[in-house]
Amino acid sequence: MESKLTKSGMMSVTYEGRTSEFPVFEGTHGPRVVDIRAFHKETGLFTFDPGFTSTGSCESHITFIDGDEGILLYRGVPIDDLAEKSNFIEVAYLLLHGELPTSTELHDFNHAITMHTMVHEQLKNFYSGFRRDAHPMAIMVGVVGALSAFYHDSTDINDPKQRVIATHRMIAKMPTIAAMAYKYSIGQPFVFPSNELDYTSNFMRMCFAVPAEEFKCNPVLCDALDKIFILHMDHEQNASTSTVRLAGSSGANPFACIAAGIASLWGPAHGGANEAALNMLEEIGTVDRIPEYIARAKDKDDPFRLMGFGHRVYKNYDPRAKVMQKACHEVLGAMGIKNDPLLEVAMELEKIALEDEYFIEKKLYPNIDFYSGITLKALGFPTDMFTVLFALARTVGWIAQWSEMIEDPTQKIGRPRQVYTGAANRPYVPIVQR
Ligand code: CMC
Repeated sequence: MESKLTKSGMMSVTYEGRTSEFPVFEGTHGPRVVDIRAFHKETGLFTFDPGFTSTGSCESHITFIDGDEGILLYRGVPIDDLAEKSNFIEVAYLLLHGELPTSTELHDFNHAITMHTMVHEQLKNFYSGFRRDAHPMAIMVGVVGALSAFYHDSTDINDPKQRVIATHRMIAKMPTIAAMAYKYSIGQPFVFPSNELDYTSNFMRMCFAVPAEEFKCNPVLCDALDKIFILHMDHEQNASTSTVRLAGSSGANPFACIAAGIASLWGPAHGGANEAALNMLEEIGTVDRIPEYIARAKDKDDPFRLMGFGHRVYKNYDPRAKVMQKACHEVLGAMGIKNDPLLEVAMELEKIALEDEYFIEKKLYPNIDFYSGITLKALGFPTDMFTVLFALARTVGWIAQWSEMIEDPTQKIGRPRQVYTGAANRPYVPIVQR
C-alpha cells in the first residue's frame, strides 16, 4: 500500500522544559492526525487512550466515515448510492480493489468467488460436535477458525497469490458456513450452494430450501438482504476490524484472523446490537410503554440503554439506518405484513427519542441496528442468526482491511502499552509466612 499522507504542519509538545516536534498529517477527508510514533523516544511518555477514542491506528484507503455529517463512503462512493444501485459482488470488488469493476472484471471476480462456494466435506464433521442449541456465532468462530486446518495452500501470508485465494475463499465460503450453522440448529439437512444463483439468492436458498421442495426466492427479499449485506460490509476501524488487524499484525493466517473478528463482533455493543434491539422492541411490546423505557434509558442508576441508539462515531443519523428503514418497509410490504407491532413501537420510539432533550444533547440517533432486527425477522431469520449475517457481510471489509495491512510497508505487530497501577515491586512471600 502506497502512503498518501501529506504533511500539513508540526505540533510541539513541551514537557519538563524540553520541547519536541511532531509532524501533523492530512488525509483525503477527516481530521488531521499528529504522528506520535516518536513520542515515547522524544518525551519518555506514553499516550493514554483506552478505547482508542483519539487514536488513529493505521492509514487506510478503504472506508471513510464523517460521524458529524452522517456520511459513509466505501472507496469514496456514498453508501446510499451503493445500496440503491449496486450489488454484493460489485461492492465487494470495490472494497478489495479500490475501483468499481468493468463488466469483464465483474464477470471474472464473480466467477472466482462462485468457484469457491463449496466447503471441504470433512468440515461438516465440525457441526456435529456442537450441541443443537449452540449459538450460531459460537459455531462460526469455531468453523471459520478451522478453515486454516483445511486450506493449507492459502495460509502463506507472504505469497500474494495465496492471499488472493484466501480472500476469495473467505468471501465465497462464508454464506455456506453460515447457512450450515442455521440448518444444523434447526435439524434440517445442509443445502449445497448453487453457482447459478447470485451471491445473496444462493445464501437465501441454502438457508430456506429443503430437499423435499422446490425453492424460489422472492426477488424483493433477496434484494433487501443484498442491501443489508452492503450496508454491513465495512465500517473502518471498528472493534472487530481492529481485532482482525491486530491478530493479523502478528503474521497469523487470514482464516484465524477472521475468526478473531467474528468473536469480537459477537458482543452486544457491536454486532450483537441488532439482536438486542429486537429483544428490546419485543420487551417494550406496545407504544404506551415507551415512556417507561425512555425514562430508564435516561436514568443514570439504571444500566438499561436504548439498543440501536447511539454510536461511537456517528453523532448524527447513521446513513445506514436510513437505507435500513426503507428496506424494512419494503420487506414488510413484500411479506404482506401490515401494522407490524414491532415496527409501530420502533417508529414511535425513534420519534420520541429524536425529540427528547437527553438524546438530542448526547447526539444519540438510531444506528443501523435499530431497524435491521425487524427486517431480518421478517425475512425469516431467527434472532440468533442476526450477528451471523453481519459477520458474513463484514467478512469482505475484514479481508480487505487485512490485505491492506499486509501490503502496508509500515505495518508492525500491534503492541499497545499501558499505565500500570497494580502493586509496587515487592518480594515473594513463602506460603508459610502468608
Ligand atoms: N441509550 C441511552 N444512553 C446512551 C446510549 C443509549 N443507547 N448510548 C449512549 N448513551 C449515553 C451514555 O450513558 C453516556 O452518557 P453520560 O455521558 O451521561 O455518561 C453518553 O451517552 C455517551 O455514551 P458512551 O457509552 O460513552 O458512548 P460510546 O461512544 O462509548 O458508545 C455505543 C457507543 C454504541 C456503545 C453506545 O451508544 C451504546 O451502548 N448503544 C447501544 C448499543 C448499540 O446500539 N450498539 C450498536 C452500535 S452500531 C453497530 C456497529 O457499528 O457495530
